[in-house]
Amino acid sequence: MSEADSRARHVAIIMDGNGRWAKRRHLPRAMGHRQGVEAVRRLVRSLEGTGIECLTLYAFSSENWKRSEDEVDDLMDLMRKFIKSDLPEFIANDVKLHILGDWRALAPDIVAMLEDALEKTSGGSRTIAVALNYGGQAEIVHAARAAAAQGEITQESIEANLFSAGLPPLDLLIRTSGEVRLSNFLLWQAAYAEMLFVDTLWPDFTPEHLQQALDDFTNRERRFGGR
Ligand code: IPE
Ligand code: IPE
Ligand code: MG
Repeated sequence: MSEADSRARHVAIIMDGNGRWAKRRHLPRAMGHRQGVEAVRRLVRSLEGTGIECLTLYAFSSENWKRSEDEVDDLMDLMRKFIKSDLPEFIANDVKLHILGDWRALAPDIVAMLEDALEKTSGGSRTIAVALNYGGQAEIVHAARAAAAQGEITQESIEANLFSAGLPPLDLLIRTSGEVRLSNFLLWQAAYAEMLFVDTLWPDFTPEHLQQALDDFTNRERRFGGR
């Protein structure tokens, strides 16, 4: 296998551990989320030269609404601020935004900002896909219904109706903070993805950690059921 073949084109991250990062410092959870945004920013800036064509980030799950109203409000405010401050940089860095999940159910001003960001980044060549109000089981139900409405339900017709349609196949799924579970993320897409669970809390995750993960991936032997 050539080096190019063994490189991860599509990496997804379950960005977990913001709350624990704050707790360890006796800070409010909101501070952990704020530092989590910094980690996202660092990572997005470091993608050049990694070979990654698509980075998918789990930002807010459909189950995260169960959190306190204050925490949900903090997360939504951070989202607003992030889009506002970083959209020009996305455009300048040839980044194309993609969104997975039921994001149109978010607050109308956020939906409008996201629509604007999608349009303004549509010409980009490297994809940042953000999972917002996302649940993997709901995604499969939605895709199966759409496939049925179009005709036969097949693996291909479901795949064509997932939020990830058009993105490269998922190569590597990383979860930070030591939890070893998928928490309803990319259930379909993870079928043959390599998985990496690291103890680092998300706000401490650096481009060096990502590079280590990519090196680790290069040494994995993927079999896809064959020999
Ligand atoms: C991940 O960090 C961020 C979101 C889920 C939005 P957490 O907030 O889940 O942090 P922990 O798991 O409580 O440490
Ligand atoms: C998964 O983390 C969701 C995101 C990282 C956005 P959670 O912290 O919500 O997952 P659980 O509750 O530990 O499974
Ligand atoms: Mg968590």
